Amino acid sequence: MVKKDLILIGGGGHCKSCIDVIESGGNFKIIGIVDREEKLHQKVLGYEIIASDKDLPDLIRKHKNVLITIGGIKDPSIRVKQFDYLKQLGANFPLVISPQAYVAKSARIEEGTIVMHRTLVNTDVKIGRNCIVNTFGLVEHDSTMGDHSHLSTGAVVNGTCSIGQRVFIGSNSVVAEGVSISNDVIIGAGSFVAKSINQAGIYIAPGRLVGLCKT
Ligand SMILES: CC(C)(COP(=O)(O)OP(=O)(O)OC[C@H]1O[C@@H](n2cnc3c(N)ncnc32)[C@H](O)[C@@H]1OP(=O)(O)O)[C@@H](O)C(=O)NCCC(=O)NCCS
Repeated sequence: MVKKDLILIGGGGHCKSCIDVIESGGNFKIIGIVDREEKLHQKVLGYEIIASDKDLPDLIRKHKNVLITIGGIKDPSIRVKQFDYLKQLGANFPLVISPQAYVAKSARIEEGTIVMHRTLVNTDVKIGRNCIVNTFGLVEHDSTMGDHSHLSTGAVVNGTCSIGQRVFIGSNSVVAEGVSISNDVIIGAGSFVAKSINQAGIYIAPGRLVGLCKT
């Protein structure tokens, strides 16, 4: 099989985890990474930072496929901004799925999303564009997750949940079945989300199983 060229946008820690997923899938040839100008020619797991943001129009003329490999916990705006800008430049956003993930055949996942090692995306799930389903994440049956959202490592979204856009669900959190989370919400690591959240903000559940405190 011919491997497709792929440019990675962002050369930090999340990028390293993405590289491992991409290499283990074997579908893409990583051409290089785009990061800040001062990092030019540095290497990330053997792949060179070949360009900075100002070179993107030229680069996208040559290589259309990109994956946004910037992480993003409290502020998804850089991922969103890059996605919109690259879209405007005519980039393609392939879906990247680890061979160690299980994705049910009825699940629908949109462009630019990465589904990382040891994750499970179950039946009739819908995941939007430019999302991260991070290592050991689980999205149960009939749940939806909006564009640019990030299900962090080991986090669980139970069945029939509705997760908005630009939502971050911290490591090892659990969203109870049927819960809705509106756009622009951050759930702190280790939280149990028992009730729906209708307002943007940061929510943590320090050592408790019910009731959320808004910071
Ligand atoms: C929720 C979060 C984003 C808040 O970050 P923040 O706004 O910088 O908050 P701070 O770290 O200043 O903490 C504020 C207070 O909340 C507490 N707190 C923060 N996160 C918490 C959490 N997940 N659970 C319980 N308490 C938490 C802190 O101890 C601190 O308490 P204090 O005021 O009594 O000292 C962050 O703590 C978090 O959980 N990040 C996610 C980490 C993660 O999942 N990473 C995976 C990457 S793939």
